[in-house]
Amino acid sequence: MYLPTNEDSFHFSVPFGAMRPRRLRLNENIRSLVQENFLKKSDLICPLFISELSEKIESIPKLPGIYRIPYSFLEKECQEIMELGLRNIMIFPVVSKEKKDLLGKESQNKNGLMQKSIRLIKEKFPKLTIFADVALDPFTLHGHDGILGENDFVLNDETVQALCEQSLSYAQAGCDFICPSDMMDGRVGCIRKTLDANGFIHTGILAYSAKFASSFYGPFREAVQSGARNLDKKNYQLNFANTSEALREVQLDIEEGADLIMVKPGLPYLDIVSKIKQISPVPIVIYHVSAEYSMLKIAAEHNIVDEKSAVYETLISMKRAGASAIVTYYAKWACQNLL
Ligand code: PBG
Repeated sequence: MYLPTNEDSFHFSVPFGAMRPRRLRLNENIRSLVQENFLKKSDLICPLFISELSEKIESIPKLPGIYRIPYSFLEKECQEIMELGLRNIMIFPVVSKEKKDLLGKESQNKNGLMQKSIRLIKEKFPKLTIFADVALDPFTLHGHDGILGENDFVLNDETVQALCEQSLSYAQAGCDFICPSDMMDGRVGCIRKTLDANGFIHTGILAYSAKFASSFYGPFREAVQSGARNLDKKNYQLNFANTSEALREVQLDIEEGADLIMVKPGLPYLDIVSKIKQISPVPIVIYHVSAEYSMLKIAAEHNIVDEKSAVYETLISMKRAGASAIVTYYAKWACQNLL
């Protein structure tokens, strides 16, 4: 074996005049000066579970640090969110079992949990932007996002009609962005038409365009009690092995009038985000989903990662990939610990 001697050492030194990119990493001042991507409070959308299951705030065991908030505590929760400097929330209902049926009718109830929550938030906190998830899963007994036909096939056009009515009732309550998360064909165009025809020209649509059939939604389903964590949604959500199909969904949603598009989950799909970024004139939102949050939280609890640096790295990587905004269960925590 040949080992270099002292005389050989010049072989291992960088040649005179060579580029030394490390000069830009010499100290914190220079590193900050050349930093390309940033995370701001205004990039974050804070998810919120509004519950009618209990009069008490309930913890969600698989989402440590995240709670089901009863309607009676909603005002206080929004106050806290505002005080942390957040201005965007995404709301999800946790409805009691008696109100669920096969058609998800409760989703369109003008005095339903979502509708009255939107009215309350808008009245008390007009500066808070409300994104409302639109799909039937929190309201159906089976937990699917739409109306079931034979063999658990979700019926497209029947579901789209229900989604339009749900969207209209959220818009009437004062919601800022309708966020269809169901993956039915043609729903963005139909929702846009419904909103426009009823005068809601300023109500936006954040379309979950590239939503994959993922195993990272489990803790969310437990939080809203919308079915088993392995509930099979493959006949409407995207196959995670596909890129072109995701790009096609994005293109269709843009043509149908989406103001913002979503990629979901986040971290395992940053390749999709950066590809969309190259072709999309519409800003991208990433949903950093429930199990992504839980995995980081639990890794931090076990001292496998340092939570502050791991969360910052994760969220910045989403900005770097091309996201304009991020829905994350870390929103409040990030304001308390990072921003
Ligand atoms: C359902 C919906 C889901 C999520 C948001 N909206 C779950 C699903 O598709 O079953 C998941 C979000 C998360 O995991 O944090 N329309």
